[in-house]
Formats: sequence, C-alpha cells, structure tokens
Amino acid sequence: MAYRSGLTRVAFALAGALALAAGPAFAQGKVKVGFMLPYTGTYAALGNAITNGFKLAIAEGGGKLGGRDIEYFTVDDESDPAKAPENANKLIKRDGVDVVIGTVHSGVAMGLAKAVRDSNAILINPNAGADEITGPMCAPNIFRTSFTNSAPGYAMGKVAADKGYKRVVTLTWKYAAGDQSVGGFKEAFEKGGGKVVKEMTLPFPNVEFQPFLTEIASIKPDAVYVFFAGGGAVKFVKDYDAAGLRKTIPLLGAGFLTDGTLEAQGAAAEGLLTTLHYADQLDNPKNNAFRAAYKKAYGLEPDVYAMQGYDAGQLLVAGTKAVGGDMSKRDALLKAMHTAKIDSPRGPFSLSRANNPIQDFYLRQVVGKENKAIGVAVKAYEDPATGCKM
Ligand code: BEZ
Repeated sequence: MAYRSGLTRVAFALAGALALAAGPAFAQGKVKVGFMLPYTGTYAALGNAITNGFKLAIAEGGGKLGGRDIEYFTVDDESDPAKAPENANKLIKRDGVDVVIGTVHSGVAMGLAKAVRDSNAILINPNAGADEITGPMCAPNIFRTSFTNSAPGYAMGKVAADKGYKRVVTLTWKYAAGDQSVGGFKEAFEKGGGKVVKEMTLPFPNVEFQPFLTEIASIKPDAVYVFFAGGGAVKFVKDYDAAGLRKTIPLLGAGFLTDGTLEAQGAAAEGLLTTLHYADQLDNPKNNAFRAAYKKAYGLEPDVYAMQGYDAGQLLVAGTKAVGGDMSKRDALLKAMHTAKIDSPRGPFSLSRANNPIQDFYLRQVVGKENKAIGVAVKAYEDPATGCKM
C-alpha cells in the first residue's frame, strides 16, 4: 500500500513536471468559445450557418486552438436587442469564455460589443454590420469577418446610378442594418445623379409587405432597393413577384436578399441583382475547397453566413496558433489576429485599422439556385471607420 501510494505521488509529480514543460497551453486547460447567435426567429438559419462554418474551420485546423482543446458554450440571442446585455454576460461573466462569436442582428451586436469592451474577452463578429462596431465602438479586442451595413448598399447605389436609374424607392426594416444599408445606397446613388424619391420602413421582423407593394406600384419608380435577410427576405421576394412587380420594376438588394434563401424563393428570385462580398461560385481554390468540404460535412450548400463563420474560425486559429494557445499573451494574440492574412472563400483579405475586412463587393445575379458573380461593383472597399480611435 505504502509502495503504491509512493508510486502515485511520483506519477502526480511527473504529470505536473510534464505540464510545466508542455507550457501554458497544457496548464490553461480548454479554450472557452461562446456562440451568441440567433437560433430561433427570422435569422435562425443565419445563426446555424455561422456555427457550421466556424466549426468547419476549427476541424480543418485540427480541432484545437493553438494546441488546446475547445469547450463550447451557446446562447440563443433571439435577435432581441433588449436581451443582449444579459445574454452577453451569460457567456462572459457566468461561463467565463475567452472568445465570443456573435452575432447576426446589428442591434444585438451593439449590446454585445459594449459588454465585450468592458471585459477581457475577445469578440469575433461573424455577421452584424452595425457601422458603429468598427467605428466609434472599435477596440483592439473586437474583430469582424463580415462587412459594414453601408458597404453593400453603397456598392448597389453605384450600380444603380451606372445603369442610369433616376428615381428609386427604398424599403427596409427600421433598425440599424436597414437604415445604414439604405444610407450607403443613397449616398452612392445620389452622388451618381439619381434620387431616392421615397424611403419606406416597417418594424423588424414584420413581413406584412402588401401596403408597401401597392404604394410602389403606384409610384412606378425606375427601381426598388431593399435590405431584408433570412425568413423576411424569402417572403419579400415571393410577395414582390406575386404582386407582378419583378418583371416591371427592377428589384435591387444588398446580397442578403437572395443569400441562403434561393431554395425557398424558387423562380420568384430569378434574375435579381444584388451586391455582396461573396458569390456562390467564385472560382478560386479556397472557395472550391470550402464549398466541397461544407457540403460533405453538412449536406448543404454554404452561403455568405457560413463563409463568414468559417473565416471567424480561420481568424481565431491564426491568432491562437501565433501564441501557442496561451490566451494570457493577450497583446500578442490580438496583434496576430489584427495582422492575419485570411485566405477566404471570398478572396484573400486583411483587416483595416478598425479590424474590419478590406474586400471586394461583387455584383451578383440570381441564376437558378445560385448567386452568380457578374462583376466587381467596388474593388478593395475599406470602411472609413469614422469615429474609431485606436
Ligand atoms: C444585421 O442586422 O446587421 C444583419 C442581419 C442580417 C444580414 C445582414 C446584416
């Protein structure tokens, strides 16, 4: 007995020595990653696609972060800004996560970013476009792998002006994403000689579009620009087509209008023009490999949200690799993430001074079940990061 407990003591001592020799990665246990995303409501599919994409990148990186195992935590934020502070703190304070992956809805993301700024955690925003997050709210521990809301709108405003449209009506949900998307469109469109003759909104996530369609039919603008996404985008495109407007008044959108939605929209989406930093069949080796791997893993075609989640995973893999999984080397970790060159399915990108991707915005057209790139609307767009002091 005495002999056995002596052996046990030796074994423990040896294990401790090995742990020290292996360095902080061993000593620190698992890296805690929290998903704060919508898993119910109109943006549920977006949250699931982001989660899938993120986990695919982690699997391709060997299933670990800087050599350490990962423990996942999940909160359904329901796309509800009122619950954002409480939900963020479930992950940051209760679960003590190192990294938060979140979120989709701009209003929720602003609450989340505020909570992260006051903490030691790192935020990788895999979708929400709130301009403020990489503007006045920018911080060294806040990263984005998506876009700013104004950018796809700006790209489409330029396209619409180049097409010679003069009078456009806009329609969107009344919250930051819609307002900023329309703001970007209006800026470029009016600079190019057009006029936004009417700006219409409805509360998020309402889908009672009929009164707006009636008004559009009576105004008869040259085109209509909208921001809708997820379940709301599916319904809007079908309603626009059913009202007989698709063939008479061109419908233009930020790319979310037709991304991840084409299966459900069917023929109602055929031919629609949108602008986004991704298109389904971008012919580069990374996109081809990503699409094949995603399909194999999940039996689904990836969309822009899956791609953004994938790049959030790639960004975290790059950062944690640089510090050997030692999350206490915070400055080195943040620097490695800030300077990472991401080989993305959208095309390679690096981050701006505000940690926002510098990237191309494609003009896409719906052909069957695909958003096909038919041109580059804006090359190497860098958000001005107005108000960012960093
Ligand atoms: C947003 O709220 O920022 C957003 C939501 C869905 C798609 C794109 C942007």
